[in-house]
Amino acid sequence: LNYRAIRFLTSAPTLAECPEDSGAEVAFAGRSNAGKSSAINALTGNSKLARTSKTPGRTQLINFFSLSEQQRLVDLPGYGYAKVARVMKDEWQRHLAAYLEQRQCLRGLVLLMDIRQPLKEFDLHMLTWAVEAGLPVHCLLTKADKLKHGPANNIRFAVEKALREQGLDREVTLQLFSSTRKTGIDTLERKLNEWLIS
Ligand code: GTP
Ligand code: MG
Repeated sequence: LNYRAIRFLTSAPTLAECPEDSGAEVAFAGRSNAGKSSAINALTGNSKLARTSKTPGRTQLINFFSLSEQQRLVDLPGYGYAKVARVMKDEWQRHLAAYLEQRQCLRGLVLLMDIRQPLKEFDLHMLTWAVEAGLPVHCLLTKADKLKHGPANNIRFAVEKALREQGLDREVTLQLFSSTRKTGIDTLERKLNEWLIS
């Protein structure tokens, strides 16, 4: 697949407003500020495709990008941003849950976690839910450029171990990633191809 040919398709505030549920889709999920929008931009070589921000909670809609008529990437609103009003948080989680539970064309989830704070409570909820739903998950430990190779790999091993211990390693894969250094893009592409081409 040519990730450089990706185009913004539409933004949906609710499941009902999403594009037709057909073809294949991969969604990018993770805490606010984890680097979801940046990762999509790095993958596609277009720094202006998905809006990124230093302010967590920037992406509040479900954003769809099309690779072809029948293949899409989805930038999900981040979760766990404390400063957002409680009611709004509930709203997001409702829409997020509806999307994850009901979207038939969803082939896999890319779960992004800042390498400096992996496996937070909501990440574990997400992983547990996906594993139980039989949805494969590929984890990106993002902003790996913030650490040296040794410490970054140690965190990767620790996260792998924690996933094994909690029985969450089935259908879950993990890699280091940096949008700023553009590292890990090949591995991510391979995983997306595996899910989107079938
Ligand atoms: P929400 O839309 O709020 O859920 O956030 P997001 O997950 O889309 O995060 P976004 O891509 O907007 O990035 C958040 C901040 O982290 C921005 O200031 C980015 O520049 C920074 N950032 C993202 N990826 C990287 C990375 O690989 N390395 C470094 N050093 N900073 C990054
Ligand atoms: Mg975003």
